[in-house]
Amino acid sequence: MKFFIELNFNWNSILEFILARGKVLKENNELNYKFDISQFYTDFLKSPKIFKNRDALNPTYIPNNLPHRDIQIKRIAEITACLLKDGVPFNFLSYGKTGTGKTSVIRFVSRKLDEKCNEIQINRPWWIYNNCQQVNTPYRILANIFNTLSTEEKIPPTGLPKDIIFQKLLNLLDDVVGNSVCFIVLDEIDILIKKKGGNEILYDLTRLNEKYQLKKSRVCLIGISNILKFKSFLDPRVLSSFGGEELVFPAYNAEELTDILQERGEIAFFKNVISEETIPLCAALAAKEHGDARKALQLLRKAGELAERSHNKKVSPKFVYKAQKSLEQDNTEQFIESLPKQIQLVLCSIFLIAKHLPNLKIITGDIYDVYLEIYEKIPGVKKLTRRRVSDLINELALAGIIKAEVVSMGYYGRSKIVKLDIPLDQLFKILEKIENIKHILNYKPIIAQNGKAKLKKNTFKKLF
Ligand SMILES: Nc1ncnc2c1ncn2[C@@H]1O[C@H](COP(=O)(O)OP(=O)(O)O)[C@@H](O)[C@H]1O
Ligand SMILES: [Mg+2]
Repeated sequence: MKFFIELNFNWNSILEFILARGKVLKENNELNYKFDISQFYTDFLKSPKIFKNRDALNPTYIPNNLPHRDIQIKRIAEITACLLKDGVPFNFLSYGKTGTGKTSVIRFVSRKLDEKCNEIQINRPWWIYNNCQQVNTPYRILANIFNTLSTEEKIPPTGLPKDIIFQKLLNLLDDVVGNSVCFIVLDEIDILIKKKGGNEILYDLTRLNEKYQLKKSRVCLIGISNILKFKSFLDPRVLSSFGGEELVFPAYNAEELTDILQERGEIAFFKNVISEETIPLCAALAAKEHGDARKALQLLRKAGELAERSHNKKVSPKFVYKAQKSLEQDNTEQFIESLPKQIQLVLCSIFLIAKHLPNLKIITGDIYDVYLEIYEKIPGVKKLTRRRVSDLINELALAGIIKAEVVSMGYYGRSKIVKLDIPLDQLFKILEKIENIKHILNYKPIIAQNGKAKLKKNTFKKLF
């Protein structure tokens, strides 16, 4: 036992030494290098011009042509065209994985329909766009619709009863929209369905035209979902009011992504800046990731920026590989930052053990012990059961942040051994940025404190 504790102690010292040394080197680096910002701008201006229109690679940019989406554009045009002859389009649903062009196609059609209305001089319809990832409570959705339509009165963030908001909304719709149509786009509607009251608000919205009796104006609902099976969570009454009309957005394959990138590349980059292999490479890498056009465009933009930063004339495949690596890191960061607090705490427990005992084979029991030591340090966090923490460990493994392997321990049964699957220093930098978590990162778990390691556990560990 003595040997084991001393070994722990030595490892800690070595690790602390390495971390401290890394810090000193970093600080020295920062101090020794005097950044000349004026010179930097001068050099930047002298560097080759790469981007003609950088914004064309933004996810919100809607190009004038959307390759490989003719079927979907045609279908939505058919549904909405009746508006040009005083008709009211029926509600409909669209499905498809992220980055398959659902939002862009709706925005594209809305733009074209507006143009046609202007051309034939009839009132343009209203388009209210509600992303349920950001606005997803019944109250906030109603407030968002009202506040978009109203130039004067605004609904406060909380406080009004639903009936009153509905009445106000009906009056406003008739006043503002008049004899025209108000499209309400509920993007990422699957998130709304899972929320309390989600089905009810949808039901109420689908019945605005009848039950609440809009006098002049009419409402048309468009639901967009990233999840194909979301229909099974919909109230049958809501589902039927969507009229059975469904549009599917299949994932793009590598050739389709190449066409999309080619067209966008011509708008975004100067001529002859992109090497021939660059676009097919971006397309192939994104096609492997569920055919997501957003990822493909992100990759191309990042590659361009990296080429620009290193004063290169060409966006060659080497920058695509670099961009991919950099985006993967950013994604891991975003993913960890967006995790629920309890999973962040479980990850933090694993981090603390790996930091203080780098040679230890971490088992679920260790993680739970450390979790129990740290959860109270965060206000408002309730204690989870061992079982639940074990589930969260599985979720982290599924996300590729840790590796969890079940091994047989003979007499002791089976145990799960956990290992970080991202570098410790990278994880530190990510956790350090999270409010409420960063102050725990200096905590030393009991298991790593000298003289406190449990004999039973040590004997157990020797079996590994
Ligand atoms: N067919 C297409 N042609 C051109 N760009 C596209 C096409 N499909 C998607 N994109 C681009 O990919 C990105 C993601 O598209 P988006 O419509 O937001 O996908 P979704 O809503 O399905 O997640 C946007 O930048 C969009 O302009
Ligand atoms: Mg979208």
